Amino acid sequence: MKTVTLIPGDGIGPEISDAVKKIFDAANVEIEWDIQSAGADVAEIEGTPLPQRVIDSVRKNKVALKAPVTTPIGKGFRSVNVALRKELDLYANLRPCKNIKGIDTPFENVDIVVVRENTEDLYAGTERKINEDCAESIKTITRKASTRIAKFAFEYAIQNKRKTVHAVTKANICKLSDGLFLDCCKDVAKEYPQIEYKEILVDNLCMQLVQNPQKFDVLVLPNLYGDIVSDLTAGLIGGLGVAQGANIGVDCAVFEPVHGSAPDIKGQNKANPTALLICAINMLKYINENEKAQKIETALYKVIEEGKIRTADLGGNSTTDEYTKEIIKKLDQA
Ligand code: NAI
Repeated sequence: MKTVTLIPGDGIGPEISDAVKKIFDAANVEIEWDIQSAGADVAEIEGTPLPQRVIDSVRKNKVALKAPVTTPIGKGFRSVNVALRKELDLYANLRPCKNIKGIDTPFENVDIVVVRENTEDLYAGTERKINEDCAESIKTITRKASTRIAKFAFEYAIQNKRKTVHAVTKANICKLSDGLFLDCCKDVAKEYPQIEYKEILVDNLCMQLVQNPQKFDVLVLPNLYGDIVSDLTAGLIGGLGVAQGANIGVDCAVFEPVHGSAPDIKGQNKANPTALLICAINMLKYINENEKAQKIETALYKVIEEGKIRTADLGGNSTTDEYTKEIIKKLDQA
């Protein structure tokens, strides 16, 4: 039986992880969870929010499902999420955004894949205080990481029969750093003549995404723009409650939703487990458990399409538990 690391995280993380575990149990998915806690509560007991045991577990199992972990704002420990991606060299953050039948949004036929560089840029957290009134952050962009993520985006495009890759930067202002990222994308694009290659500035992209999102296919971006733009694209298809993601490296993969720990609804039985469940389904496909993945996927999308039971973020008034039970009920019909 395959063992998969499960990081339940904090905030709404444990609630939505629980929902996924229940659905997997009901579908008789044959995997064993290696549950590894991380985050603020763990830091109090173990002295670090990301103990070595968590990293070792993912390294050993090579695949993980991760719920969100809170990052303190402006102070406290650095992001567990960023540290995990860095430690395991999970260099590609893949965030597909496609309309889901049954969720009404202002736009139809949205089908965008955000490919975000995951290891450098301002996310490296290289900051210093110059004096009481001035601080600076260093934005590092390297040829190695930029070329690697560009290749990932083009390979993804080929494998998934996509047509266009847009490289997204602010190279008119960050001429050296984003300029280097763009140069790398341009070079890699030459190796893939079958894919149309385009460039766009991130501000213009944001404007066009909220006017005409159907124009875009695969986007490849440095870390920070990728983070922001993928929340925007999540909004186009129904919000963070349904937005999936995956962090892919050479040796391992960590599947995690786009959303954070949602402290505003923590412990209220209101969280939408859909994003984490889609990540879990993708994880099953990644380990070739396709039949079970298909079964759960069919049940999930049936519940969403019917729209009778839905959580508050999608305009409903059902609880996490009610929604989970409804998916389990549908498993029998899948
Ligand atoms: P957030 O994504 O947690 O929440 C933004 C809004 O979306 C909130 O109103 C929240 O209630 C709602 N929301 C998010 N996920 C939802 C779900 N599954 N169901 C229903 N509603 C949902 O973003 P925020 O508030 O900026 O971040 C909170 C914490 O999460 C921060 O500490 C942040 O650093 C962390 N974070 C962690 C991530 C990770 O672990 N990968 C990713 C993003 C943020």
